Amino acid sequence: MKIVEPTAATVAEAAALLREGKLVAFPTETVYGLGGDATNERAVAAIFEAKGRPEFNPLISHVLDVQSAQELVRWNDTAEMLAARFWPGPLTLVLPRAKGSPIALLATAGLDTAAVRAPAHPVAQALIRAAGRPIAAPSANRSGAVSPTRAEHVAESLGDRVPLILDGGPCKVGLESTVLDLSTAKSTLLRPGGATREAIEAVIGPVALSDALPTGNAARKSPGQLESHYAPARPVRLDATSVGADEGLLAFGPAPPAGAMLTYNLSPSGDLAEAAANLFAQLRALDRPGIGRIAVMPIPETGLGLAINDRLRRAAADDGAGARG
Ligand code: TXA
Ligand code: MG
Repeated sequence: MKIVEPTAATVAEAAALLREGKLVAFPTETVYGLGGDATNERAVAAIFEAKGRPEFNPLISHVLDVQSAQELVRWNDTAEMLAARFWPGPLTLVLPRAKGSPIALLATAGLDTAAVRAPAHPVAQALIRAAGRPIAAPSANRSGAVSPTRAEHVAESLGDRVPLILDGGPCKVGLESTVLDLSTAKSTLLRPGGATREAIEAVIGPVALSDALPTGNAARKSPGQLESHYAPARPVRLDATSVGADEGLLAFGPAPPAGAMLTYNLSPSGDLAEAAANLFAQLRALDRPGIGRIAVMPIPETGLGLAINDRLRRAAADDGAGARG
């Protein structure tokens, strides 16, 4: 495995690897992706293998623009409006597979829908352009680990399971994309993320929330549907307003409680975009020997707070010991 600066030459090298069915980790504005040729079943299988995913979750196909998305999925007016507002950017659209869609069946886990997204990061765009095909990419971490927002995180998690990592620096958004299902009559938010529910509703009106989303303390209501993707090794305690001496504190806002063994502040000024960008890196930094538990201060449930709280609830539900439900 090597980590390289993205240049015309290294992007071309990465694109050549992709065309050969090999994997490449690359930066997007949300998190780093573990990319493979979305039209190559073997390459997609290699993604699942590298991640150590227990099951074949459907993957997002990354494209340059609306025109290339239309070759993969059956486009509609709602998708058109949303793409005009959010693409390129952190919004993933789930739509029916187009007839003759070249996306590998394994990439959509046998579903008759497919997820597409046009990322905003210039390195991601250059790679898709150079590869000349859609890139299937989940977050570039082993299954069960926190999503990587820096090239070093990818290297730590995947090691030699990925031959090449394009280092685009820290991810600006820091949270995965919002996943919105447009394949049924009612547009449904499957995963809150970098594009806020409020901003989406301003374009297309009310969206439904998926039943699978963990909400508050009801997080254990449907544990089978909870993905353990956001799990630090240490237990996570939410809504902490005070902190114990054995705890690491993930703070938010200007007045964190004193007494923690170690404190990181997602945003001292209470800015949710800053908090999102810091979330995964700070969770990692607190997930270290000597810390008994990670305490997290309350985060408002508005804007990007919906996605931040979703990730934190998943981290807390998978309480580190694997003792779930
Ligand atoms: O920001 C992101 O979305 C990152 C970067 C690399 O683009 N990718 C990412 O991929 O987070 P992944 O595989 O970790 O998450 C993809 C999400 C999963 O929740 C999956 O269930 C959902 O998208 N998804 C993909 N295809 C779907 C489909 N056909 N129907 C429903 N959900 C789908
Ligand atoms: Mg993931």
